[in-house]
Amino acid sequence: MNEKYLNKIVLGDSRIILKDIEENSVDIVLTDPPYFLDKLDNNWDTNEVHSKKNQQAVKSLPAGMKFSRQQGIDLYNWYYEISKEIFRVLKPGGFFFTFSSPRLYHRVASAVDDVGFEIRDSFIWLYTQNQPKAMSLNHVVRRRKNLNEEEKEKIIKKMDGWKTPQLKSCYEPIVIGQKPVKGGNLDNFLENEVCLVNTNVTTGENMFPANVISVDNILDEIDRIFLVDKPTKKEKGEYNTHKTVKPLSLCKHLIRLTVYSDKGVVLDPFVGSGTTAVAAKMLGKNYIGIELNNEYVDIANRRLSEID
Ligand SMILES: C[S@@+](CC[C@H](N)C(=O)[O-])C[C@H]1O[C@@H](n2cnc3c(N)ncnc32)[C@H](O)[C@@H]1O
Repeated sequence: MNEKYLNKIVLGDSRIILKDIEENSVDIVLTDPPYFLDKLDNNWDTNEVHSKKNQQAVKSLPAGMKFSRQQGIDLYNWYYEISKEIFRVLKPGGFFFTFSSPRLYHRVASAVDDVGFEIRDSFIWLYTQNQPKAMSLNHVVRRRKNLNEEEKEKIIKKMDGWKTPQLKSCYEPIVIGQKPVKGGNLDNFLENEVCLVNTNVTTGENMFPANVISVDNILDEIDRIFLVDKPTKKEKGEYNTHKTVKPLSLCKHLIRLTVYSDKGVVLDPFVGSGTTAVAAKMLGKNYIGIELNNEYVDIANRRLSEID
């Protein structure tokens, strides 16, 4: 099964490669799609992502972080087509974990739902380290030609602390879709070895696995309940230039929670610098990674080659 792609990082477009993967052959799909990059969803180009001309007024925002309704609709349509193929390749009872963003979660989850997955739950991945993106409007006031200096200062004083409506983002939602089981859970598990969660895998101090996860120490009480293994400093690789590398411990946690068999296959159609594949390999599972960008394929392969 899937021999051609098994334990490989495949250079190519997921929309094409996925069609070539055998149906009902994958245990879980764990992926972090390019969910907010306007116009770049189908053609992620590192230079374009970071180019000045693609940036907006707020320099730290990636290209495409625009608040346009059409962007959400495009994301839904694009992810609907991807999710259809993911549904086909997953075994009955197989899980589809997809990272998303608080702002566009609904589009991602609806696409997953509408192709036939059952939305089982969602994880909240909690963190504290993130730059607030809210912007003061002082510079807009200063540019107003119809106001004199005194009026401008009065408005700026009036709006002290009031900024554009962007909260500091401290969580990332992860959609949990499940391909419906065939027969009941028991028959499905005996046949496919996927559809249940491993409650021996705990969070915090041996807590029943929760739908809130933190990979960094936040606060004793939160850590006690929701902390999973912390990422190591070296895990990305010094040479890793990818901008959105996910924590290895988070990927490992989701795999350990749901993949029973050592023959189990973990697929990531947007594998980037390979974190999902590295996690699967470290846990003795099979993986298939797909990535459009040559540079990231090389990084993923290098990371994989460094695992004993
Ligand atoms: C958010 S990143 C994934 C990062 C990854 N989780 C990691 O830890 O390195 C999404 C990746 O999807 C890739 N990509 C975008 N469109 C693609 C497509 N149509 N097919 C395959 N890969 C694609 C991008 O090049 C990018 O590396």
